[in-house]
Amino acid sequence: MDNLILVTGGAGFIGSHTCVALSAAGYRPLILDNLNNSDVRVLERLAKITGRPPSFIKGDVRDRTLLDRIFREHNISGVMHFAGLKAVGDSVTDPILYYGNNVTGALVLAEAMQAAAVKTLIFSSSATVYGTPERSPIPESAPCRPANPYGRSKRMVEQMLADLQHSQPDWRISLLRYFNPVGAHQSGLIGEHPLGNPNNLMPLVSQVAVGVRDQLAVHGNDYPTHDGTGIRDYVHVMDLAEGHVAALRHAASGPGLVTLNLSTGQGASVLDVVKAFERASGQRIAYEVGPRRPGDVAAYWGDPSLAQVTLGWRARRGMDQMCADTWRWQQQNPQGYESDGAL
Ligand code: NAD
Ligand code: UD1
Repeated sequence: MDNLILVTGGAGFIGSHTCVALSAAGYRPLILDNLNNSDVRVLERLAKITGRPPSFIKGDVRDRTLLDRIFREHNISGVMHFAGLKAVGDSVTDPILYYGNNVTGALVLAEAMQAAAVKTLIFSSSATVYGTPERSPIPESAPCRPANPYGRSKRMVEQMLADLQHSQPDWRISLLRYFNPVGAHQSGLIGEHPLGNPNNLMPLVSQVAVGVRDQLAVHGNDYPTHDGTGIRDYVHVMDLAEGHVAALRHAASGPGLVTLNLSTGQGASVLDVVKAFERASGQRIAYEVGPRRPGDVAAYWGDPSLAQVTLGWRARRGMDQMCADTWRWQQQNPQGYESDGAL
């Protein structure tokens, strides 16, 4: 069998949805996750969606001995590397933790892959590598000037993998730069359940809708945008997941390195998201306009045309579906995977 894919961080938000897309496309995911930001109960939800429990190993991607054993014991044809830490603020407070997880994690993984002669790798990068962009839509050729340790850790891994592919041209590497992933699987069985206090817009909006929070703080309405609030390129997590499958198929066509935006090419403002969520949920989203959030960019969105041409992939789900699917997940699982109502 040559369809076994090691999915590091596969218990997390994007990784779990990608496991669904992998299964639908005939691949078998093998999840490696230390569960530091996820819940093992996602596995039973995945089993319910796909009809088959995914293989799972609890462990750390920095554990070389474990990785060697995994590659020895399983006939893995490719790796999707989602495992990492992603909270920008925490990366400023504890940069060593971030470089350790994100950079060392990718380095140890690449070493183990090289030793095992597994040379197909899809890496979770981020639009955050662009920093404050000069213009939108942002093409992949835009300068990379990440503004915080998290963004720099992603950029360092991109550079390391590009150097690796340059030195060993038989590698097949995809660096996928995600814009703002939101939404959930349409079953409502899996979704994003941020541990602690979320900072991202969509989880906060859905918590207001379900009544966990009283209101949303809108971070500034004096930006030069159509309604004064910040604009981002929100992309449905199932579209992202399908983008990964498309990247895997592309890798099968030959060696090389591709760097691609996974984005919709369209921006939505904070108030656009609020209104779409109100439509999807039938709930009123109370909000109060506050000051700008330090470090925020007024508006940016990505140019998805290279991904379209290279992978034949494009985002198909719009903002209304992003909100409807987030709402279904939130309503059925107000306590995330602790909720059993959906099972
Ligand atoms: P997530 O936290 O839900 O998933 C990451 C998973 O990796 C978690 O299950 C966590 O337990 C696991 N993990 C972390 N460190 C690990 C380690 N050292 N060993 C093994 N497992 C480990 O995050 P997500 O939103 O699914 O993001 C997945 C990837 O995509 C991350 O690399 C993230 O930086 C990147 N990304 C995310 C976003 C976003 O907004 N969600 C945007 C751009 C890029
Ligand atoms: C954040 C991260 C970025 C990451 C991205 C996607 C920072 C500095 N950047 O960016 O690295 O890739 O998420 O996960 O954290 N907003 C409000 N009120 C809120 C929360 C957000 O008005 O309570 C606004 C923000 O000002 C922004 C928009 O909503 O205009 C989106 O914010 P957010 O979801 O945090 O994403 P990013 O700012 O793009």
